[in-house]
Amino acid sequence: MDPVRDQLARPLRSLRLSVTDRCNLRCGYCMPEESYTWLPRKDLLTLEEHAELVQALVPLGVRRVRLTGGEPLLRRNLSELVAGLARISDLEDLCLTTNAVFLEEAAQALKVAGLGRITISLDTLRRERFQHLTRRDDFDSTMAGIEAAAAAGFTGTKLNAVILRGENDDEIGDLLRFGQEHGIEVRFIEYMDVGGATRWTMDKVVPIGEILRQAAQAFGDPEPLEPDRTTAPADRFVLPNGQVFGVIASTTRPFCAGCDRARITADGRFFSCLYAREGTPLLQVLREEGPEAAAARVAATWSARNDRGAEKRLLAEQRGALAGAEELRGQPH
Ligand code: GTP
Ligand code: 5AD
Ligand code: SF4
Repeated sequence: MDPVRDQLARPLRSLRLSVTDRCNLRCGYCMPEESYTWLPRKDLLTLEEHAELVQALVPLGVRRVRLTGGEPLLRRNLSELVAGLARISDLEDLCLTTNAVFLEEAAQALKVAGLGRITISLDTLRRERFQHLTRRDDFDSTMAGIEAAAAAGFTGTKLNAVILRGENDDEIGDLLRFGQEHGIEVRFIEYMDVGGATRWTMDKVVPIGEILRQAAQAFGDPEPLEPDRTTAPADRFVLPNGQVFGVIASTTRPFCAGCDRARITADGRFFSCLYAREGTPLLQVLREEGPEAAAARVAATWSARNDRGAEKRLLAEQRGALAGAEELRGQPH
């Protein structure tokens, strides 16, 4: 099969593989506390199926894989999947997004298995605030996980902090300082209307301009770096002290025009956009007809793709047409 392009000539290069829908934390912007129905185990792709599927998607152009969740470290034997993916020679980037609570136990094995990079989700450096935001008391384990990643030899670690108005929008400077001390690139993320939680409102979003003003107050004016739309959704900046950081402004400055990303859920549904309504189910075809047939479904979906989910959402917001617009809400990360 040949590399695919969508209706707007965008290639399929980056794949987010959600290996579980479960999470040990309950960040208010992502997971409701109760009334959550987890996927039954039999409906999950096995680790072998995940690897076979990725292998079959490489000829379509996939070069980057990010393991995500829920919390991916809740998936048993995750390092076996990492080892399987690390053997796929054409993959250029193999990363994990984790809340780091279980990273202390896992870091060494992940490194040995061939994981390339880790991105850690952490929205606050204050213990009580962490407990309030995640509804769990795991601050110390998270910190231990961050240390363990460095001790296991991981470099290029990033930190994702979702900034919420009135919650952690006074921590921009502290998070940058933490990043500098630990050699970690911090990325501030605008709150997006994605995930199982339903409390998103525009006034909770702290736009990129405000984030940059706070960074400037703490460390002097940030200078923009050349955009690199092919590899990441972040706008990157450098501070006068040389520290580089990013802002992911997907709410107020969507990057749909250059988006080469897709997501596969833990039960094997292929989403061509975080905001896509329907996924293409792959589990049954994978089990009954094999990985090549599943890849053919992906190729067909991608070729028909004209998604611009975040852009459309922003337009609707600007027109004041968003009240109760459930159909515009996106997938969890
Ligand atoms: P690197 O910069 O390469 O490390 O990866 P990344 O930025 O893709 O990864 P990460 O998982 O850390 O995602 C960061 C943020 O970007 C999260 O808040 C995601 O929800 C958001 N994001 C990731 N993919 C998409 C996408 O396809 N569309 C939109 N609108 N946002 C996305
Ligand atoms: N808005 C912005 N970022 C989010 N994430 C999860 N839910 C949201 C949301 N509603 C982030 C997590 C993680 C990344 C993969 O996505 O904090 O860092
Ligand atoms: Fe868990 Fe990540 Fe959602 Fe927080 S944002 S509840 S860490 S899946």
